[in-house]
Amino acid sequence: MNANEGSVIETDRPILEFDRVSLGYGDFVVLRDLTMNVQAGEVVALMGGSGSGKTTLMRAATGQLLAISGEVTAFGQPLSQVDRQALQDLRQRMGVLFQHGALFTDLDVFENVAFPLREHTKLSEAEITEKVLDNLEAVGLRAAAHLRLSEISGGMSRRVALARAIVREPELVFYDEPFAGLDPISMGVAARLIRKLSDRLGCASVVITHDVPESFEIADKVYLVGQGELKASGTPANLRQSTDPYVRQFLEGAPDGPVAFDYPVTPAFEQWRRQKGSGR
Ligand SMILES: Nc1ncnc2c1ncn2[C@@H]1O[C@H](COP(=O)(O)OP(=O)(O)OP(=O)(O)O)[C@@H](O)[C@H]1O
Ligand SMILES: [Mg+2]
Repeated sequence: MNANEGSVIETDRPILEFDRVSLGYGDFVVLRDLTMNVQAGEVVALMGGSGSGKTTLMRAATGQLLAISGEVTAFGQPLSQVDRQALQDLRQRMGVLFQHGALFTDLDVFENVAFPLREHTKLSEAEITEKVLDNLEAVGLRAAAHLRLSEISGGMSRRVALARAIVREPELVFYDEPFAGLDPISMGVAARLIRKLSDRLGCASVVITHDVPESFEIADKVYLVGQGELKASGTPANLRQSTDPYVRQFLEGAPDGPVAFDYPVTPAFEQWRRQKGSGR
């Protein structure tokens, strides 16, 4: 066995695979029987309505949440079978832009992006400065490096989080709602940046989003989840041609149709309602 084997990108295998995976929390099943794969160099859009299970899927891919059934495999390793240390090592190869901030409010913009480099690499201060400024430049925030988080806008902090997710040049990157809170120009820039990065580094990118135009412009493949299952998958062109009512409603943003607006009734809600003594 070659000592470097773990860090080699397995080009002949998907970077990430879901094989008939079901996911949920306690007795609440969010997604059933989902199969998908992500190859090196690909940009994959993971789409679906609010509460459809996109963030849940990402948690399963990063090993934060175990599948109820089926298998999640990252870099060729089944996540249900790896130990803590191996999972840590796999996570080192992933970058995550979390849906809800997770930036350090007491650090400035520069230090937020520098953080993963200080934690996980032995780069010199000069190398860190260069890398961080490079990445801030890519998101248009080089001259904001010195600002405190309280001094930047919501959209700017999304872009800082984006720079932080990619600063270590991971092999697999998850972007959970990277376009939320961005103006149309920043949105286009962020989308093209994700594409450019995948092309340059050969990494795999999973973009979780509701934004159809931005993601369809850059995605090689789209997975659409809803009603507890995978509703559609294929290239953006495949999905545009789909006559499936769910796909059509999602793409057109029509208010009426099979895409649910109401949060589903769960066993936990039923129990809460019984305790409340409410018939509603
Ligand atoms: N930690 C948790 N414990 C219990 N239920 C959860 C937990 N996290 C999410 N859920 C539930 O799982 C379902 C899917 O949530 P998830 O966050 O994956 O949706 P999403 O597709 O990312 O939605 P959005 O687009 O609004 O971010 C929701 O019904 C949510 O309430
Ligand atoms: Mg989410």
